[in-house]
Amino acid sequence: MNNFTYDITTIIHFGIDQLKNLADMKASGSKVLLVYGGGSIKRNGLYDDVMQILSENGLQVTELPGVEPNPRIESVRKGVELCRENELDMVLAVGGGSCIDCAKVIAAGACYDGDAWDLVLDGGKIEKALPVYTVLTLAATGSEMDRFAVISDLEKNEKWGTAADAILPVMSVLNPEYTYSVSPKQTSAGTADIMSHTLENYFNNVKGAYLQSRMCEAILKTLVHYGPIALHQPDNYEARANLMWASSLAINGMVSYGAGVGWCVHPMEHELSAFYDITHGDGLAILTPFWMDHALNAETAWKFGEYGRNVFGITGDDDMEVGRQAIECTREYFKLLNLPATLSDVGIDSTHFDIMAEKAAAGCEGSFVPLSKEDIKSIFMAAL
Ligand code: NZQ
Ligand code: ZN
Repeated sequence: MNNFTYDITTIIHFGIDQLKNLADMKASGSKVLLVYGGGSIKRNGLYDDVMQILSENGLQVTELPGVEPNPRIESVRKGVELCRENELDMVLAVGGGSCIDCAKVIAAGACYDGDAWDLVLDGGKIEKALPVYTVLTLAATGSEMDRFAVISDLEKNEKWGTAADAILPVMSVLNPEYTYSVSPKQTSAGTADIMSHTLENYFNNVKGAYLQSRMCEAILKTLVHYGPIALHQPDNYEARANLMWASSLAINGMVSYGAGVGWCVHPMEHELSAFYDITHGDGLAILTPFWMDHALNAETAWKFGEYGRNVFGITGDDDMEVGRQAIECTREYFKLLNLPATLSDVGIDSTHFDIMAEKAAAGCEGSFVPLSKEDIKSIFMAAL
């Protein structure tokens, strides 16, 4: 196991009736930028509840509605402008990962002299940020409890992740009931995203990180069990609650401390979204099994063997064979969630593979199996 420093400071209020804790935002001042998306929080009543609590606590609200899935740098710039003009004290995101990511970069941009895109390209430039608060409405990205934010400039076909301590949310409210209204498509895509975060951490070469692997398997089994239940019973509290907490734990550092590894399916997927604006979880569900096909070999079979036996209950002594079956189980699982299985399913052809593979390769450094531009291109080709 490698050395690490545990530093997750986000306060999580999990469960029913936790929204009242937004009152604690008063500690950061009195003027709030409320960041939300295309209207789901108005349709399910959450907007009214949030506004009421903020008003009862004397918090004044400036709104930034309309944040897009795959949030755009233009929305970030608008938010930064609002923070500056109105001298706002903090940012509250109410929504999924897109709203939270947008809020994080707004918070940093408000404390930065140049253009916010600089901060997307280089997290090292984020020295300060306004305090970020979140109310999560979709179990997926883990942004509610991590230091990352992913922003797109679709005019340039660019989608990049940035990271900094300063944008870690101060507090997040996680009420599984808020996810009852998430559509079947987004429920599945979110579950695939959590699965991918866990797998990106799970497939590492760090010796002796036994505990981290078992924690990953616990999350993976939780997803395998509860993903289909949430899909078919959207208001099943137990399923939504397990998915929601899995979303935070998969990426907040808990399973990767001491077992860090470079991620690779994510950099590949970000190119799909950058060029085709597809749903992040859909892209991950497509690419993951094809990446696994590529990564399974005599040296890595032991890990795929663990995966197959401990997550899917596959029996047998031959790691290669168990690994092959585990990859099929992964495919079947995504199929069960009605997720797309090929790039053609989401309208992607090979037109941009060359540049997409080149850009993805730059982000795949230090991954479980080294990936060159050519390797990535062959994974894209196989996924067609
Ligand atoms: O915009 P609204 O109207 O709110 O609708 C959203 C959106 O259309 C809807 N939705 C969210 N909560 C809902 C709901 N609909 C009904 N009821 C609710 N309770 O779902 C749609 C998708 O929302 P979005 O926020 O885009 O989804 P997600 O949470 O999956 O976020 C995806 C973004 O996060 C990035 C992705 O790349 C993508 O840009 N990621 C962020 C990460 C991070 N910060 O750590 C890591 C991830 O790997 C990922 O890259
Ligand atoms: Zn992800």
